[in-house]
Amino acid sequence: MANKCTVPDIRDRKVARGDNPLVMLTAYDAPGARMVDQAGVDMILVGDSVAMVVLGYEDTLQVTVGDIAHHTAAVARVRPSALVVADMPWMSYHLSIEDTLNNAALLIRAGAQAVKLEGGQRRIPMVEALVAAEIPVMGHLGLTPQSVNAMGGFKVQGRNLQAALDLVEAAKALVYAGCFAIVLEGVPSLVAAMVTEAAEVPIIGIGAGPSCDGQVLVSHDVLGLEQRVVPKFVRRYADLHTAGVDAMSAFASDVRSGTFPSVDEGYRMAEAEVEALGLYGVA
Ligand code: KIV
Repeated sequence: MANKCTVPDIRDRKVARGDNPLVMLTAYDAPGARMVDQAGVDMILVGDSVAMVVLGYEDTLQVTVGDIAHHTAAVARVRPSALVVADMPWMSYHLSIEDTLNNAALLIRAGAQAVKLEGGQRRIPMVEALVAAEIPVMGHLGLTPQSVNAMGGFKVQGRNLQAALDLVEAAKALVYAGCFAIVLEGVPSLVAAMVTEAAEVPIIGIGAGPSCDGQVLVSHDVLGLEQRVVPKFVRRYADLHTAGVDAMSAFASDVRSGTFPSVDEGYRMAEAEVEALGLYGVA
């Protein structure tokens, strides 16, 4: 079993200093976490994307701290070597510092080693309070899915000079407040390169081009389990949806044709018991 990956292991990793890029994938349950961990990733994100790829919602706004804690606990039971980061859901870190700390504590007690939250300067008091309470925080900038209504949809961010400079400033502010890494989602590759150069901590890109210090994708996209929307930045490495439908169709067909189960797929009684049953005419 590989050594447990820790927050200090991640915080120092910058590709510009010669480090290997970081790898993060999502997982929401024990089999998913086992697969991701055996693939040797550095970090597992229990993302609020669970809302869309597992629970069938249209956006991430529907999940609660209880939902994320439930999925985090399932991931943590696998005791992965990868660092477990749990997403703080919408409205779990917006109301007060006390509320933010209590909600983050629920996720840490469920088994996460760090939490992730979305947004820039407006989140600084919450980030500082979490860090002061010894809860490591990963930031999330650019296309922040919890802002879907404010952004008018899932739209690429940072497309003009001012927006790009704002992202650089937001990243610096999050680093100053104590974030150990930042996810940067849905921004032009050039802007991601600027942010990555400006930030002292690793920038983990998703739809942010190749210059980041690492990459994260949603596992259901990588595996082809999520078929409905395939964003441009997703590379699909398998088609498990089709493989699953084929396997289940084969099962249905075997049941209907009477070839499942076979004799060997059932249990036997001892001969003496069969004979005893025979005494009563049951065969
Ligand atoms: O919830 C999630 O899966 C995420 C990733 C897209 C970074 O936040």
